[in-house]
Amino acid sequence: MNLPSFLWLWKIAAWSMGLSLTAYTILGISGFWMYNRRINKQPRPQWLRPLHYLIGGIMVFLVLLLLSIGIIGTLGHYGSLGHSPHLVAGLLVVVLVLISAISAAQISPKRPWARSLHVSTNVILLLGFLLVTGSGWSVVQKYLP
Ligand code: HEM
Ligand code: HEM
Repeated sequence: MNLPSFLWLWKIAAWSMGLSLTAYTILGISGFWMYNRRINKQPRPQWLRPLHYLIGGIMVFLVLLLLSIGIIGTLGHYGSLGHSPHLVAGLLVVVLVLISAISAAQISPKRPWARSLHVSTNVILLLGFLLVTGSGWSVVQKYLP
């Protein structure tokens, strides 16, 4: 395959990344909202937790989609992986998102550590997102016409 034939793939990557960052923002707001209600011992809207869960699932899906796009595109172009620091940033984000989702499913009054693990993973995830967007932005330049 020649270079421009990959352009559509990296466009999907850029759009998915935009959606992931939007999802992250909504998760941050709804997560903080749940936290706020819990600390103030006030009931929270019934839809809040399912919404947070649903958007979280969408974000996990998008990140796994980005991982497959990245691997398929890089293998198709070079025939091998590991051509820039973007690989490390990408794997970091995938691991963090999975830790976040698994710890989220463990949150309960019996397991207080799961909540703090969930929240701290997501703080580091923001840094990971910035690294992967920056490095992705930089490697995509060579595919642009
Ligand atoms: C990976 C996808 C995610 C899933 C599946 C998920 C799911 C959950 C679940 C099930 C809870 C427990 C709600 C409860 O107390 O019953 C929770 C809590 C929380 N989530 Fe997420 N979440 C995700 C991503 C995020 C992200 C990216 C952020 C921040 C940017 C975030 C922030 C929070 C916060 C602050 C709480 C704590 C609420 C509290 O202290 O009561 N979550 N999440
Ligand atoms: C969570 C987000 C992302 C993940 C997990 C991810 C993952 C990956 C992985 C694992 C590779 C293979 C790298 C290698 O072996 O060298 C890759 C390559 C690539 N990704 Fe991403 N990526 C993400 C976001 C982005 C974004 C936002 C862009 C920009 C549009 C992008 C553009 C690229 C390009 C152009 C390559 C080819 C690398 C090269 O030519 O050296 N990625 N991605």
